[in-house]
Amino acid sequence: MRYKGKTVCITGSSRGIGRQLAIRFAKEGADIVIHYVRNGDAAREVSGEIERLGRRTLLVRANMADESRILSMFEKIKETFGKVDVFIHCAASGRNRSAVELDAKGWNWTMDVNTRAFLLGVQQAAKLMPDKGGAVLALSSFGSDHVFPYYTSVGASKAALESLVRYFAVELASRKINVNAISAGMVKTDALNHFPEMEQTMKKVEAKIPYSRMVVPDDIANLALFLCSGEAEMIRGQVIRIDGGITLPLV
Ligand SMILES: NC(=O)c1ccc[n+]([C@@H]2O[C@H](COP(=O)([O-])OP(=O)(O)OC[C@H]3O[C@@H](n4cnc5c(N)ncnc54)[C@H](OP(=O)(O)O)[C@@H]3O)[C@@H](O)[C@H]2O)c1
Repeated sequence: MRYKGKTVCITGSSRGIGRQLAIRFAKEGADIVIHYVRNGDAAREVSGEIERLGRRTLLVRANMADESRILSMFEKIKETFGKVDVFIHCAASGRNRSAVELDAKGWNWTMDVNTRAFLLGVQQAAKLMPDKGGAVLALSSFGSDHVFPYYTSVGASKAALESLVRYFAVELASRKINVNAISAGMVKTDALNHFPEMEQTMKKVEAKIPYSRMVVPDDIANLALFLCSGEAEMIRGQVIRIDGGITLPLV
């Protein structure tokens, strides 16, 4: 049990990748802050599953675009657990448009949920991390440095997120807080339902992966459990790709 006695806060843990991260960290002994914004039933279901493992959970609803809700989430964490050992920003949203069609409102929304929430969240989480240190992880994607159809706003938000990871990694190193990012290839989750022409795009992606299978949430959980542990203490401010090699071939 690598995370026994630890408190792990995972934004966007009601569904998809965040949900699996919550379950895997709980299986390793952690108490979990489960966060969601709309799908309360899904979040309660994850909470029940984790409590059946004998772990404690705190369920928090907070729109990551709203600064006051982020601050109050950390107030609740402080009241319930008194600390946070690991903070993972997994929640994400986006306006799925081409660059020439992207509007300012969609840009701002995406940057607020995906990137500004990480800035504000890490600032708060760091205050609640014990003197012996902690870990922060950001979920990024191959769209941060590659071009993917209709992914403009999310891709730009993830590029800025990766930059923030490097700044925090340097500033928080003296406090023994390790900050890294995982850049994942495509994972079949609800997130893909909102993209135009996704079925054709997914077929093209699957055909191009050198390792011939899509990334699954457990692949990401395996890496997250390592990166947030003491075993990864000399990996700082890095963006680790997990994509079956899809970003390697030029043709
Ligand atoms: N799926 C992929 O192909 C892929 C690839 C690379 C990286 N990623 C990254 O991995 C992370 C998880 O992706 P996923 O595919 O698992 O996503 P998902 O299934 O769509 O789940 C999104 C999660 O974020 C929460 N969320 C959405 N908007 C929010 C907001 N405004 N405020 C607070 N929470 C909000 C959702 O809460 P509700 O359930 O309440 O709506 C849900 O828990 C994201 O950062 C994503 O960019 C995904």
